[in-house]
Amino acid sequence: MLGSVAIFVPGISVKKMGKAITLPVDSIYFDLEDSVAPDQKDEARDCLRNFLAARDFGQKCLLARVNSVGSPWWNQDVAALAGCRKLSALLLPNADLASVSILTDQLERFDSHLKIVPLIETARGLEEAREAVLVSSRVSGLQFGGEDYTASLGIRRTLTGEEIAYARVRLTNLARAYNLDMMDTPFTAIQELELLAADCRRAVDMGFTGKAVIHPGHIEIVRQAFRPDEADIEKARRLIAAYEQQTGERAGVFALDGAMIDAPIIQRARNTLKKAGL
Ligand code: COA
Ligand code: MG
Repeated sequence: MLGSVAIFVPGISVKKMGKAITLPVDSIYFDLEDSVAPDQKDEARDCLRNFLAARDFGQKCLLARVNSVGSPWWNQDVAALAGCRKLSALLLPNADLASVSILTDQLERFDSHLKIVPLIETARGLEEAREAVLVSSRVSGLQFGGEDYTASLGIRRTLTGEEIAYARVRLTNLARAYNLDMMDTPFTAIQELELLAADCRRAVDMGFTGKAVIHPGHIEIVRQAFRPDEADIEKARRLIAAYEQQTGERAGVFALDGAMIDAPIIQRARNTLKKAGL
C-alpha cells in the first residue's frame, strides 16, 4: 500500500502540498504534528481538510499524521479526518500499545474506513510494537522514526545510523512476520546525497519495504535504492531459468557457477523479480 517512497509534507503549507501531488512518490504523509506550530494546529487541520476535498491525487496513497494521542489536538484531528475517503490511513506518532488501542476505538466510534500506520519512535513504542500490531486489525503498516527514537533514548543521532540499527532490524523482522509494509525513517540532511544513498542501501539490506523522505531532492535516490538493479534482475532470471530446467530431473539442490542453489536461493530470486514488478 505505501510503496517505496512516501513524502512528509506540512499540512499547513498549501504550496508544498500542491507540489507533493506532482512528485513521483507512492504515498504522501500530510503532517499535522511536528511540522506545525502549536498556535497553527487548528488552521492546519482546516487547511488539510479543504485541500483533500478540493484536489485530485491519482493513484497516490494518502495518509495524515495526526497529533499524538493525549495531546490537546488529536481528538479534533481524528474527528475531522475520520470520514475523509481520500485518505487511506492515519499515521500515529509516538505510537505504543495504549495509543494504538485508543485510536482504534476512536475510529470504530466514527465508523471510519481508515487504517492505522503506527509511527514507532520511542523506546516504549519499540518494545510494544508487536502487541500494537496485534491489538488492531486496522494496522496496515509501520513507519520508523529515527529522530524521536534517539531523542527518547537520550542518545545522539549520526548520519551513518549505527545507533538505530537495533531498532531497524527488530522492526523489519516484526513487519515481515505479520506481512506489513515497513517504512524506514527519513534522512534529514537534505544536501548529503551520498550519505542518503548509503543509508538507503542499509535500509534495503535490512528488509524495509520503503522509506519516507522530507524533501523532493531525496525521492529519486530512495526510489532507485528500493528497485533491484539490472544485474540483480538478470542474475535472478538466470537462477530461476536454471532451476526450472533442473527441477524436471533433479528437484532440490544443484550447483551453478560454483555455488549451491536450492529453494531459499530461488525464493530470493523470485523476491527480486517481485520487487522489480516483474
Ligand atoms: N513536500 C513538497 N514540496 C517540498 C517539500 C516537501 N516535503 N520540501 C520542499 N518542497 C518544495 C519547496 O516548496 C520548493 O518548491 P519550489 O521550488 O516550487 O519553490 C522546493 O521543494 C525546494 O525546496 P527547498 O527550498 O530546498 O526547501 P525549503 O527550504 O523550502 O524546505 C524543509 C525545507 C525541510 C522545511 C521542507 O523540505 C519540508 O517542509 N519538509 C517536510 C518537513 C516535515 O513534514 N517534517 C515532519 C516529518 S519528519
Ligand atoms: Mg515527532
